[in-house]
Amino acid sequence: MNYCDIYNKSINSSEEFWAEQAKKLEWYNQPSTILSKDKNDYPLWFADGELNACYLALDKHIQDGFGDQVAIIYDSPVTQTVKKYTFSEVKTEVAKLAGGLLSLGLEKGDTAVIYMPMIPQAAFAMLACARIGVTHSVVFGGFAPHELAIRIDDCEPKAIITASSGIEIDRLIAYKPLVDEAIELANHKPEKVVVFNRKLGARVPFKKYDVDYDALVYGSEEANCIPVNSTHPLYILYTSGTTGKPKGIVRDTGGYTTALKFSMQHIYDTKEGEVFWAASDVGWVVGHSYIVYGPLINRNTTVLFEGKPIRTPDASTFWRVINEHKVNVMFTAPTAIRAIKKEDPNGDFIKQYDLSSLRIQFLAGERCDVATLEWYREHIPIPAIDHWWQTESGWPMIANMMGVEYLPIKPGSAGKAVTGYDIRIFGENGQELGPNEEGYVVIKLPLPPGTLLDLWKDNERFKAGYLNKFPGYYFSGDGGFKDSEDYIYITGRVDDVINVAGHRLSTAEMEEIVASHHSVAECAVIGINDELKGQIPLALVVAKSGEDIEHFQLQHEVVQLVREQIGAVASLRDVVLVQRLPKTRSGKILRKMMRSIADGESFQVPSTIDDEAIIDEIRTVLQHDKIGCFK
Ligand code: COA
Ligand code: AMP
Repeated sequence: MNYCDIYNKSINSSEEFWAEQAKKLEWYNQPSTILSKDKNDYPLWFADGELNACYLALDKHIQDGFGDQVAIIYDSPVTQTVKKYTFSEVKTEVAKLAGGLLSLGLEKGDTAVIYMPMIPQAAFAMLACARIGVTHSVVFGGFAPHELAIRIDDCEPKAIITASSGIEIDRLIAYKPLVDEAIELANHKPEKVVVFNRKLGARVPFKKYDVDYDALVYGSEEANCIPVNSTHPLYILYTSGTTGKPKGIVRDTGGYTTALKFSMQHIYDTKEGEVFWAASDVGWVVGHSYIVYGPLINRNTTVLFEGKPIRTPDASTFWRVINEHKVNVMFTAPTAIRAIKKEDPNGDFIKQYDLSSLRIQFLAGERCDVATLEWYREHIPIPAIDHWWQTESGWPMIANMMGVEYLPIKPGSAGKAVTGYDIRIFGENGQELGPNEEGYVVIKLPLPPGTLLDLWKDNERFKAGYLNKFPGYYFSGDGGFKDSEDYIYITGRVDDVINVAGHRLSTAEMEEIVASHHSVAECAVIGINDELKGQIPLALVVAKSGEDIEHFQLQHEVVQLVREQIGAVASLRDVVLVQRLPKTRSGKILRKMMRSIADGESFQVPSTIDDEAIIDEIRTVLQHDKIGCFK
């Protein structure tokens, strides 16, 4: 089948198409209803099916005789550890942990937060929850207690599963005190905190709610997989939106596992038994879909990497991992390649390793600039495939479907619409735009299986954020255009979301935090272009008049505040002080114009601006040589 045929079938006979894909999984009860609607009239897939994601990821392969195949390779340059776990070993650990969670009183329908570094126990915890129908919510380990507390309050976990520490390159980060602080900050109090002690020397203060992970696992009976309904929430994953409050993306079980199995073979072209490596973190959607569930469901060996593309110990790490574990297909963010390219522009490290196992390199998480793609292709002559998706979709929406047909690559484009996604480009009034006209990237409903069901306990926000702008269509929040051959080019977010080193962050949230500083009268946070990280935030701050604070001190305190409240991962380092902010006559801050000024792009002065003289002032403070002086 070629791309056009399979794509057309997925759109024109979508129920038949996805029913066929669902049959490739083992269900306790095969769904008889393929597409229906929920109580809010939103499309649902496989509503009456019953299955278990952990069963599909582990038990099934053991029953099929693959118990001795390596399921997880934990490669941790920061602890100089490589450890391999077979499917049987993972299943035993996961089933015992699941038994332990049941003994703590967790049951199907409860939620649990997982706040862990990149260690196998993070994947075990996710799978253990899935095994007993507990909905997990993994929080990225780089988020500060305040962020963790917001998520605890929103999803009200019965338990938190954490580890004693994480390692950031060469820095030990004690996680347990962060969890304790988050619980203090939160209104909702989890009953138990399960702590995996890595014994790396971090402080692990003991609290009454603590349970030792090892003791729990070794003292528990193995729990069986509990069948759940196809629409049962496998997980909630918080992502940045356009307000200070993150959005809890709700993922179902049946649609998601069907889509993941399909995507592993048809997009990622990964055969059962091959080695797949997504160099991301379990705290992001990539980690959920393509470190844990996707590869394991497809019976692949997945690499769980605790390190960075550079400095752990150097820019050769990726090539060492590919060589050592014979990785067949890899996924990373363009920013990782940019970081490597900066350290090793001539690719000298690449030449030192045998990378012949590697067939395809996938890139996503942010726009892939042409220079990075070209550098990769020059040094590693295999297909380097940009593709586009979001936390909301859970799996790719635009790609070159490598398991179907390898279409010619057009640098700058993420490829063509993936099966099941009817992608259109709309103008402001909902009119469909023609080739090469830039507009909003929208997708005709129903979205295919695996995409978001709702926002956790916030259907109004779900509708307002994604469905109401263009009725009948899902609004992605991205801008872009299609060329005459239906290749799609994503040009960037059209809202207050920015993408910093592949990490999705909200400038609105940063603004709320900056504005809370006692010396700040008003502020704006914008995302500006950055050679390494794609984008970085920049805060423009107007100080309160009469405040007795040195400018440098204010800048320093604002940076600290954001680090404390969101985490260092926000990467806010640039704070510039201005006398006033450019606004429209109705008082709206002209953020887009400031972005263009900072990026040195041309822009039109809005006719509604209240005072044109301010443009020169802003231009002077935003000159690029000035930005960065506070790093
Ligand atoms: N726990 C604690 N802190 C963390 C963290 C974690 N899990 N992850 C990041 N941080 C901290 C870093 O230590 C750093 O702190 P610092 O300001 O005190 O130095 C800050 O957050 C920014 O980190 P990062 O964005 O990783 O920047 P960096 O300069 O350390 O590294 C790159 C730059 C490009 C190498 C790195 O961003 C990278 O590997 N990016 C790829 C990320 C990725 O794969 N994203 C894909 C998601 S799909
Ligand atoms: P996240 O939800 O964290 O995965 O971030 C999703 C956002 O990242 C998208 O809405 C895009 O803005 C951006 N993004 C992801 N992949 C790409 C890509 N290949 N090209 C351009 N932008 C991308």
